[in-house]
Amino acid sequence: MNGSVKLSALGFTAALIIGIVAFSPTAQAKQQKKPEVVKTTVNPFVKKYCVSCHGAKDPADGVNLTGLKTDADVKKAAKMWKKAGREVLAKKMPPQGSAMPKDEERKKFIDALNSLK
Ligand code: HEC
Repeated sequence: MNGSVKLSALGFTAALIIGIVAFSPTAQAKQQKKPEVVKTTVNPFVKKYCVSCHGAKDPADGVNLTGLKTDADVKKAAKMWKKAGREVLAKKMPPQGSAMPKDEERKKFIDALNSLK
């Protein structure tokens, strides 16, 4: 009799602990955290099509497109990235004679920037 009471109390405690762990804010934050689009999309695109002219050292038109580490960094230089998106959309950048991204790649880049507004 006494033994089974102890056992069910133990089961209840175990369920409680599992519940706390599963629904703790940190567990939820981990599940909801999206990968940074800067890393998945923006930086690879820029590296491939822009940085040869817009690197950290003496960038064309003073537009330095390097140094993005997190999605939040795009907002810190929102004006420049807005312009970059516009140039890519209008197919002014990269300029004639450079390696050209496919329309699909342009779209992904622009969508990624728009998602950070
Ligand atoms: C071959 C070199 C070269 C490459 C590659 C290049 N650019 Fe440029 N970019 C320039 C030059 C030169 C200018 C300034 C003259 C002009 O606007 O054409 C410029 C200007 C710009 C400007 C400023 C435009 C304005 O009106 O103020 C932006 C933004 C820009 N580039 C973004 C990009 C992006 C984004 C990429 C990659 C998709 C890229 N560029 C690739 C050479 C380049």
